[in-house]
Amino acid sequence: MRRKLAAGNWKMNGLGASLADLRVLADSHPEPSVDLLICPPATLLHPARAITEGTAIALGGQDCHTEVSGAFTGDLSAEMLGDAGATAVILGHSERRDKHRETSEEVRVKARAAHAAGLMTVICLGESMFQREATNTLDIIGAQLSLSVPDTSTGENLVIAYEPVWAIGSGMTPTPEQIGEVHTFMRARLEKRFGPGVGRSVRLLYGGSVKAANAAEIFSIPDVDGALVGGASLKASDFSPIIEALESA
Ligand code: 13P
Repeated sequence: MRRKLAAGNWKMNGLGASLADLRVLADSHPEPSVDLLICPPATLLHPARAITEGTAIALGGQDCHTEVSGAFTGDLSAEMLGDAGATAVILGHSERRDKHRETSEEVRVKARAAHAAGLMTVICLGESMFQREATNTLDIIGAQLSLSVPDTSTGENLVIAYEPVWAIGSGMTPTPEQIGEVHTFMRARLEKRFGPGVGRSVRLLYGGSVKAANAAEIFSIPDVDGALVGGASLKASDFSPIIEALESA
């Protein structure tokens, strides 16, 4: 059985003062029946650890370098994220694929580095509206999936987040049928590549304008094992109802 996962991606949001909300979130969910992951900006990982230690909340980074260390000004290695308190890292988010020109091949090398450092990877995939309208969504997702996911993946260290680019921060979400189609497709691809044991244990998240109002419907879709939430993960009062919807799904 896959344990469900509610993950929050704070993106480039959050200062020291935001940690008060993290404490509220931890106190509100002392023994959740789902896994909880918050990915704050890397500057907050270390102080966040002091708050989440001994709670149900795990911490993650939002990107990492392919190398362990070296002359890479401004970059952070997976080992550094782990040292600061992360047990996971988001990789290949569309904002990095788009604004930092990250390719699926780079994402795969980063994921391999993250696995070597003992981190769980949340690898993001998603089509643009242009690609969806050209009706080749499954081709795009299939190519991103096979190129971005490394052979070092297991049911424990790999999570895939399907995040249609056009649904991120837009208030628009795909229909349940559209989400279901992509998740069923990803599951079949993973089972084919890694075998049914691993393929069925990888958790598949949906991301893109998930809110308290639409969470229950999204979580009722087969093969949706949770969500990767942006804006609605910034405040405990917005994220808590999403966690509760996942617990009752
Ligand atoms: P929103 O939930 O703000 O649409 O962002 C989704 C996302 O990009 C999570 O990684």
